[in-house]
Amino acid sequence: MTSESGERRRFQTVRGTNDTLPDDQPYWDWVRSAAQSVAHRFGFRRIDTPVFEETALFVRTVGEGTDIVEKEMYTFTDRGDDMLTLRPEGTAPVCRAYIQHGMHTLPQPVRAFYITPIFRYERPQSGRLRQHHQFGVEAIGDPNPEIDAEVIHVLWSLFEELGLKNLRLHVNSIGCSNGDCRPRYLNSLRKYYSTRLDKSCEDCHTRYEKNTLRLLDCKEGQCQPIIDDAPTPTDSLCQDCADHFERLRSLLDLWEIPYTVTPRLVRGLDYYTRTVFEVHPAIEGSQTALGAGGRYDGLVEQLGGAPTPGVGFGSGIERIIMNLREAGLTPPDDLSPRTDLYIVYLGDTAHQHALRLAAELRKNGLSVSLPTGSRSLRAQLRSASAANARYALIIGDDEVAKGAAALRDLDTSEQSDVSLDAEAVKAAIAS
Ligand code: HAM
Repeated sequence: MTSESGERRRFQTVRGTNDTLPDDQPYWDWVRSAAQSVAHRFGFRRIDTPVFEETALFVRTVGEGTDIVEKEMYTFTDRGDDMLTLRPEGTAPVCRAYIQHGMHTLPQPVRAFYITPIFRYERPQSGRLRQHHQFGVEAIGDPNPEIDAEVIHVLWSLFEELGLKNLRLHVNSIGCSNGDCRPRYLNSLRKYYSTRLDKSCEDCHTRYEKNTLRLLDCKEGQCQPIIDDAPTPTDSLCQDCADHFERLRSLLDLWEIPYTVTPRLVRGLDYYTRTVFEVHPAIEGSQTALGAGGRYDGLVEQLGGAPTPGVGFGSGIERIIMNLREAGLTPPDDLSPRTDLYIVYLGDTAHQHALRLAAELRKNGLSVSLPTGSRSLRAQLRSASAANARYALIIGDDEVAKGAAALRDLDTSEQSDVSLDAEAVKAAIAS
């Protein structure tokens, strides 16, 4: 590429974004198809929303004081002066769609899943990207803890299906804001911190003022002893929230999903109420959650809909694939499709015949490759094995005259003669 100044430069992916090359695709196909199949098993159907939305949709729901809204959104003004944001999370758009399309008239809860790119201007590191992809599910319109448990079951089943082991599920309840449990808790947390602010980090001073619950999420070393002794949301739950949490735990027990109650678990988005959860690998770092979510009973109302409960999760596909690779787990063979036949030809008549045969076999559903131009037999056979072809058909002008040619099994090197018409070749390959 030559720039205006005449300088040549090679472009690279933007920091924090990745190409998914053909060799990577079997992993992606594997995770996507497992996610889709698990979601269907639990009655979730696919939803797709646009990549960008009005900025206010996210500011209002994810929350003004959150890292996502304050530091991480890809926001721009378009040519019509509308303020838009590339989707930084999947839940608010699904709730927007639920309201916009009157989905409250459907049987509740509406169960939807998505597989979609997410954009956050974060500091890139292993497992933390500026464009990542999430598999997420949302169940909207049901307040019962059975749905919370089912949503967690979907995520757990996906990891089981993929063979990921030694994962830890952390659950907690952060209470509700319509009863008095959340306000009561925030008061006690503020009171606790008021005498410890001098020992807290700079960011926690801001959290104390703007987003008190997030004090528990601070990663700074100096704040850890303070967090360790802080009051927990579960200490302040109202009776309804306590019952809800207990029922959720009893269902996880019933379905034999192992979990740890982590009483200081809070989440980085403001819309959560009651249930919150995260799944981590056994060896944890700060950016390791493989999936996370919770209940968001006020979100639809915040967006102008009727009061409607909801619960869901999002799970990072890049992180899942990273863990699969680390565990030495590989996609099933049928997700790395092979070329059925590579046609090798020598001479002009054979070339013509090869072109005709390839077209006919492709029409019959076979995957067929053949070289372009004229190349040596050895070069062509090398290309056949580079294409991971199962068979090679070797045609010279003599073979065309005879109407038969050698079909070589490239796995066993066995060779047999086959008549040079599409039906016969197809039958020989299938046998
Ligand atoms: P979240 O915890 O922000 O929640 O993200 C969900 C998951 O996406 C994380 O557990 C992680 O696996 C993956 N993830 C997040 N950020 C990155 C990143 N920068 N790079 C790679 N992977 C990442 C939400 O987004 C909520 N909308 C989840 C939800 C759905 N809650 C209810 N419904």
